Amino acid sequence: MRGTLALTALTLPLLALASPTLAQDVAQATTAKAGGATAASPDGSIRVTVTTDGDGRPYYSVTRNGKPLIEPSRLGFLLTDAPKLERGFAIESQQTSSADSTWEQPWGEWKTIRDRHTQLRVRLKEGTAMARVMDVVFRIFDDGVGFRYELPDQPNLKTANIADELTEFALAQDGTAWWIPGAEWNRDEYIYNTTKLSAVPLAHTPMTVKLADGTHVSFHEAALVDYSGMWLQRIEGTKLKAVLQPGAKGPKVIRGTPFTTPWRTMVVSPDAAGIYQSHIMLNLNEPNKLGDVSWFKPSKYVGVWWEMHLDKASWSTGPKHGANTANVKRYIDFAAKHGFRGVLVEGWNVGWDGNWFGNGNDFDFAKPTPDFDMDALSAYAAKKGVHLIGHHETGGSTTHYEKQLDTAFAYAAKHGIEVVKTGYVTDAGQLERVEADGTQLREWHDGQYASNHHLQVVQTAAKYKVAINTHEPIKDTGLRRTYPNWVSREGARGMEYNAWGEPKNPPEHESIMVFTRLLAGPMDFTPGVLSLEGKGGTPILSTIAKQLALYVVYYSPVQMAADLPENYDKYPAAFQFIKDVPADWSDTRVVSAEIGDHVAIARKDRGSENWYLGAVTDETARTLQVKLDFLDPAKRYTAQIYRDGEGADYRTDKRHAIAIESRAVKAGETLSLPLAPGGGAAVRFVAK
Ligand code: NOJ
Ligand code: CA
Repeated sequence: MRGTLALTALTLPLLALASPTLAQDVAQATTAKAGGATAASPDGSIRVTVTTDGDGRPYYSVTRNGKPLIEPSRLGFLLTDAPKLERGFAIESQQTSSADSTWEQPWGEWKTIRDRHTQLRVRLKEGTAMARVMDVVFRIFDDGVGFRYELPDQPNLKTANIADELTEFALAQDGTAWWIPGAEWNRDEYIYNTTKLSAVPLAHTPMTVKLADGTHVSFHEAALVDYSGMWLQRIEGTKLKAVLQPGAKGPKVIRGTPFTTPWRTMVVSPDAAGIYQSHIMLNLNEPNKLGDVSWFKPSKYVGVWWEMHLDKASWSTGPKHGANTANVKRYIDFAAKHGFRGVLVEGWNVGWDGNWFGNGNDFDFAKPTPDFDMDALSAYAAKKGVHLIGHHETGGSTTHYEKQLDTAFAYAAKHGIEVVKTGYVTDAGQLERVEADGTQLREWHDGQYASNHHLQVVQTAAKYKVAINTHEPIKDTGLRRTYPNWVSREGARGMEYNAWGEPKNPPEHESIMVFTRLLAGPMDFTPGVLSLEGKGGTPILSTIAKQLALYVVYYSPVQMAADLPENYDKYPAAFQFIKDVPADWSDTRVVSAEIGDHVAIARKDRGSENWYLGAVTDETARTLQVKLDFLDPAKRYTAQIYRDGEGADYRTDKRHAIAIESRAVKAGETLSLPLAPGGGAAVRFVAK
């Protein structure tokens, strides 16, 4: 890390709380209301103010360019074993500081990240005999705000048994919201809803809103560690409230003081592009704790996967078993021939033969099936410069998995496995946790227990230099900064729904996902099904060019080419783009976007001077005029353009129509990209 850290701490003792009586406290709290505590972002555009009301309830509010964005919104906690932390507070002190530094991502969408913010720390103290203290810390950026609670060690709050958070987000305007439901059985694998903000019930985050005046706001959280994930519940009108995911032991969170909560984040921008380009999520996470992680190589992979989802092969042993030695060899040959570093193999290990959905207690993560020769295959792969990608499906049996972690990752490392895909296939609220005394508990995928489970997995994997790609994950909150071996996750409706989903992913899916799920972090969506066919030949609602565009539009440092090898052999010209596109970038620019309609993203390869562009549309055809001002003006480029061909349309047999052409381009020019209904375009700009 380099840069400057200017600390201008200013401690203002606003109140001297001498009296323990409530009446006087209320009067003092009211005094504080007049002053409050306030600070603005470095460019002054975003301002946060904290006040208390006549009952000593703390509130925060946010303005942007002087206009209310978040109206006074409550702060605090409900506890299961003590009076709530909610009223009788006065502002004891406030401190402001400013920071401006830059740091480098070992891999990612951007190489260099700037962290420029103002920090406002507000100490709130109860005027009651309990005199409990609660700090609220805001980091105010030019493109949004993050805040968290910090509960210091104190005599009357040794352990916080949190029943719920009282944090509110009272938006000053209505608008259009893109969201998926919270607390539903299928976790976060839902088709996105587009409704008025004032019609959202309980939503998962990230949830993004375009307000009536055009301002875009996205709500999420950063650094979810040893705490429960947050849903957003609409209370009334346009006022949202945090609802924590349950914990099997009663309180939603159990923490000894001192501790800090995750950051509650609001990314704010006049347009959709600015929402994606924000670095708030990463900046609010702790720096890399793993040191040198150059052992992780961002790369692409193929795998014994799609054939199971098409029901052409099985995870279980028997005549259809996909993970047999001969079939895996075929994939290794294919990977080596076309330059893929990884070969994912699912169903390789013991445990798939019974009902594994929601029950992973038969899984052994160091024992291959008899027809899968791990030693021979890993040696064969190594000879060809390919690495097997491991798969640990837990069926949600987390304790069973935890008992095997060291053995499992030692086994993976021994066989040249650099990445392990984990899976938690079970309904929401059904993760199996078994206590030392045998007591069985059921936990939530984003609960406090799950947050600790995942960090244990990621940290154990790091010991063996293995990277993790989690499916049915806990929500991503930017922890890849702290643990850069946590490289990708699922956490939304991925390509698998185009195999067997009812319905399949709609054409608008991608242009919503970029501005919701992908704001949290990389996604293992598994694009590239050029056959455009799911189970039984059912059509996927896309064109080929759109499948190619997804390699740029969706970021993941482990990026799958999901289709069957024999299908890639049918489309060699289009497949070339998948072979060429990198999985690691030094720069990223959203060049055009309207959430739910279209998005075009340009990214610069980290390993060369080449740029790539991906553009996708919803069911509506449109022509994008893309200004090539991201290109280096000192260079000349050949643009290899993969666009929807004549008559291409996701609704018809012409979904496979693609036009591939090359032409010379340079910075300052405008590229006209016609996108078919449900279509897209992918461009590789090769620097001369
Ligand atoms: C669901 C995952 O998303 C998918 O990729 C995987 O193949 C199955 N679970 C089996 O683990
Ligand atoms: Ca899944």
